[in-house]
Amino acid sequence: MLALRQASAFRVLLLTAFLPPLQWAQDPAMVHYIYQRFRILEQGLQKCTQATREYIQDFQEFSKNISVMLGRCQTYTSEYKSAVDNLALRVERAQREIDYLEYLREADACVESEDKMLAEKLVQEAEEEKRIRTLLNASCDNMLMGIKSLKIVKKTMDIDGSWMKDAVSDSSKVYFLIGSRNNTVWEFANIRAFMEDSTKPGPRKLLLTHSWQGTGQVVYKGFLFFHSQGTRNEIIKYNLQKRTVEDRMLLSGGAGRALVYQHSPSTFIDLAVDEHGLWAIHSGPGIQSHLVLTKIEPDTLGMEHSWDTPCRSQDAEAAFLLCGVLYVVYSSGGHGPHRIACVYDTLGTVSEENLPNLFFPRRLRSHSMIHYNPRDKQLYAWNDGNQIIYKLQTKRKEPLE
Ligand SMILES: *[C@@H]1O[C@H](CO)[C@@H](O)[C@H](O)[C@H]1NC(C)=O
Ligand SMILES: *[C@@H]1O[C@H](CO)[C@@H](O)[C@H](O)[C@H]1NC(C)=O
Ligand SMILES: *[C@@H]1O[C@H](CO)[C@@H](O)[C@H](O)[C@H]1NC(C)=O
Repeated sequence: MLALRQASAFRVLLLTAFLPPLQWAQDPAMVHYIYQRFRILEQGLQKCTQATREYIQDFQEFSKNISVMLGRCQTYTSEYKSAVDNLALRVERAQREIDYLEYLREADACVESEDKMLAEKLVQEAEEEKRIRTLLNASCDNMLMGIKSLKIVKKTMDIDGSWMKDAVSDSSKVYFLIGSRNNTVWEFANIRAFMEDSTKPGPRKLLLTHSWQGTGQVVYKGFLFFHSQGTRNEIIKYNLQKRTVEDRMLLSGGAGRALVYQHSPSTFIDLAVDEHGLWAIHSGPGIQSHLVLTKIEPDTLGMEHSWDTPCRSQDAEAAFLLCGVLYVVYSSGGHGPHRIACVYDTLGTVSEENLPNLFFPRRLRSHSMIHYNPRDKQLYAWNDGNQIIYKLQTKRKEPLE
C-alpha cells in the first residue's frame, strides 16, 4: 500500500515537473495522449509492483515454510538424536546394572554355596570320623612287631591257592581252595586232618554254584566270601552249612579294575578279616595303582567306609589287616626278600616310622596269599605250593592323643 501511494505521488510530481504551463497546453489531444501513456505506464508499474509484491509474499511464505520445516526437521533431528543418545545411555546403564546385579548374585551364590559346602563338608567329615572311631574302637590295640616263626603245615604242587579257618566262629574246620579259579572247596575237620591227608575222616568236598577268582577268599561266621569269577567286582557270600548262595554284592570304587598286587597275577579283590571285621583290599578308581581299603558289613553286605591308602600295587605280593592296620608285603621282582614296606592305619595311630623292618623268612617265590586270623592271631599263607602259618610278635599301639 505504501508503495502504491508513493507511486501516485511520484506521478503527480512528474506531471507538474514536465507538463508545460496551462497557457502552453494548446493541444488537448497531446495532453490526453501523454496522460494515457502515463496511465499505461502507471498500470504497468502497478502490475509489476503487484507481481513483485506477490512474488515477495510467496517467497516469504515459502522461506517461512522452509524455515519452519527446517526448524521442525532440526527439532526432530535433535529430538531424535537426543532420544537415541538417551536410549543408548539408558541401555548402557541398564546393561551395567544387569552386569553388576549378575556379578552380585553370582558372587553371593558362590560365597554362600562355598561356605555352605565347606561347613557341610566339615560336619560330614567330623561325623564320619566319629562313626569310624566307633566302628574301629580301641578294643583292639595290637600292632605288628615282627614274624616270630614259620611253620609249613602242608606241601602241595599247586603254585596258587588259599587256605583258612573261620576267622570268627569257634570252629576247628580248615578250608582248602586249590588254584586261582575253581569251584571246589575242600573242608577238613581240623588242622591235624589237614596236615595228614591219610587221617580219617577224609575232607568233605563242596562244589560251589559259582567259581572263585584269585586267592582272596575268607571264611567268616560260617560263610565263605569270594570274588565271583567272570565278574569284575561281585562278592558272593556263600553259606557253607546250607551250601547255598546267601547274598551277593558289587564292590564299588574301582574294585576289580586292576590286579591288587603286581606279583599275584589272578587276584583282583583280596578279602581280609581282622578284629574289626570284614575288609576288601582292591584297586582304586583311577589308573594310579594305589590300594583302596573298604570295610564291609558282613550281615548286610553294605560298604561301611573306604580309605585310599598310599600303598602301591607295584612289587606287592600280598597284604593283611591286623587291628585296623593294613600291612602290605613287597618283594622286588617277586623273589625275596619279602618285606612289609607299606603300613596304613585307618585310625592314623601307627605309621611306618613306628615299625621295625618287618621281614618274612626267606622264600623262593612270592606269596599267593597271606591272611590274618584274629581268632588265633596268626597268618595263614600259601607260598610255592606250601601252606604256611606265621606266628606273630605284636605290641600295644601307642594310645591316641
Ligand atoms: C506454505 O505452507 C502452506 C501450509 O503449510 C501451504 O498452503 C502453502 O502453499 C505453502 N507455500 C509455499 C510457497 O510453499
Ligand atoms: C568295639 O568293637 C567291638 C567289635 O567290633 C565291639 O564288640 C565292642 O562292643 C566295641 N566297643 C565299644 C566301646 O564300642
Ligand atoms: C578244580 O579243583 C579240582 C580239585 O580241587 C581239580 O580236580 C580240578 O581240575 C580243578 N578245576 C579246574 C578248572 O582247575
